[in-house]
This record gives sequence, C-alpha cells and structure tokens, in this order.
Amino acid sequence: MNPARTEPGVGPVDLQYVDAAIQRIGRAPDAVIPLLQAIQDHYGYLPEAALRRVCAATQITPAGINGVATFYDMFRHRPGGKHIVQVCHGTACHVGGSERVEEALRRHLAIPEGSDTDAARRFTLERVACLGCCTLAPVVRIEKETIGYAAAEKVPETIAGFLANRQEAAATPTVATPAPRTGAAEIRVCLDSCCLAKGTDHSFRALQQSLAKHGANATLKRVGCVGACYRTPMVEIAIPGQPSIIYEGVTPEQAGRLVETHFRPAGLTPRISQLYTRIVDGLLVEDADAIPPPGRPADAKDGAGDQAFFRRQVHIAM
Ligand code: FES
Ligand code: FES
Repeated sequence: MNPARTEPGVGPVDLQYVDAAIQRIGRAPDAVIPLLQAIQDHYGYLPEAALRRVCAATQITPAGINGVATFYDMFRHRPGGKHIVQVCHGTACHVGGSERVEEALRRHLAIPEGSDTDAARRFTLERVACLGCCTLAPVVRIEKETIGYAAAEKVPETIAGFLANRQEAAATPTVATPAPRTGAAEIRVCLDSCCLAKGTDHSFRALQQSLAKHGANATLKRVGCVGACYRTPMVEIAIPGQPSIIYEGVTPEQAGRLVETHFRPAGLTPRISQLYTRIVDGLLVEDADAIPPPGRPADAKDGAGDQAFFRRQVHIAM
C-alpha cells in the first residue's frame, strides 16, 4: 500500500517518508522538533497530511505539534520554490544594503509583491537574521551556498553562478575520501560559514581530487572556524613532527598544487621527485601567498600579531 494523502493545491503527499522518519526518530513528545525538521527537509514545507500522520502514530498531540510548528520561523506551512534564497537582514547586512539586494532578487526572480515564491515555483525568497558570517556582509544563502558581499547589481551573476555550480557539482564524480592512515599528515580546511561564503568548498573539492590523483599519504579534514575568517579560504598542512603551515586565499588551482608541493607524487625516483617538488615550491610560494608557519616571526608578513594568534596556546592560569 502506498500511504498518500491529497494536500489542497499541491496534490498527493506520499506519507511513506513520514512513517520511516517516525521509525527512525521516535514517538515520544520530545521527538517533535527533529520530526518537523525531517519533514520540512524532505517536502520543503510541513504538509498538513504529514502532521496529522505524526499525531496519529506518536505520542505528540495536535496542540503540541501545532504550537512548535508555528513558534519557529524556520518552519514553512506552504510549499516553496525548488531553491530557497535567504537574505540576511541582521545588523551588519542591513547596514551593508541587504534591502537593496532583496529588492533586486525579487525583481530578477519575478517574485510578486506579497508573495515569497515565483509563479513557476523555482525560487522562494526568505528574510533571515544573522547567518554567522557578518565579516562578508551583506550575505545571501541559496540552498547550502553562502554568498558574501552580495550586491544588487550582481544579482543576475549571483543566480547564474549558483545554477552553474549546481550543474558542475552534479557532473563532478564524487571522490571517496581515503580512510585515515596511522601517522598520516593532515590537510585541515575550515568549512564554516565565512569560509564557505568565500568559496572554500571549491578548494576543498580540488584538494580531494588532487589527493586521490597523487595517492598522497594525507588525510583531508574539515575543521570549524579558526578565527581568521578575513583570510579565507585557508588550508593548514600538518605533517607529523613538523610545524604546521597555513596558507591563505587558496584558490582551487592552488589547492591542487599544494598537494603536489607537500606530498611527492608516488612512482618518481627520489631525485626526480625532489627536483619536481622544488620547481612546484617555487611556483607556489609566488602564488599561494602563504602565512609563514608559527615559530618564524622574522618572516611574518603582518607583524607578530598573527604569529601569536596561530601559535600553540599556553596556559596562563591554573
Ligand atoms: S548580520 Fe548578516 S551574516 Fe551576520
Ligand atoms: S569561518 Fe573559516 S576561519 Fe572563520
């Protein structure tokens, strides 16, 4: 049996997903938020039929689910467009011109006043508070892609870029990240909000592909914000027994070459490999704009402040 209910103006809603979500998440009253999140992620909004099904199959009451679903802004009660466009109206973004960006998006996407979705249901526009990357204000998020320094005049380019990136991601084969090996070096890449907004995910994918291509003995690791959001995209190379090296402003092209520089390509004799590494090193230092590793304050580009910031932390109180 295919459990489906008809939703006014939408058509049948397949409730198999709701049954599976209940099975996975639970039936207790405290499962209400995870269930609502799962339903919204799947359907793009909260279909009434799905909420009724939750109440029928769990200990959650209609009053309970309705109270939570209407309390939080993040829950939608109407079907949205295929892509959700969030415009940040937090303080930094407001000052940076988020109202103009929203107006330009509305015009470009042909979303009528009084509605949040275009007639073809391609895009839904949402106003949100701080997206957590105020240094890049004004900020717009389309699906999982965060766009910093958004500008009204760049809206057509922004939307075209988003659609092109999706096509590219769909066409790029997924590269399996090799399992960590004991004693392997680590390549650490921050994929938090500011870094994502500056396109670090593109550099991350380039690193992934380069690692797979060269079979380097290194583990690619996602890390959270390291507090230097203004220098993104950042890549840290941590080789056991050596000081870490941090690179800033790493483009996808440079990311690929970083792997070649630090991890010799397998299969070359040591002397050729050394020569190869030296040549690539020469190229990279010109291009990659490396932040000197901690412990080399004489080479510091921006004075001792950065060096102290990236150095190992020292306990100053018991
Ligand atoms: S105010 Fe917009 S990202 Fe913080
Ligand atoms: S978000 Fe990556 S350094 Fe802050």
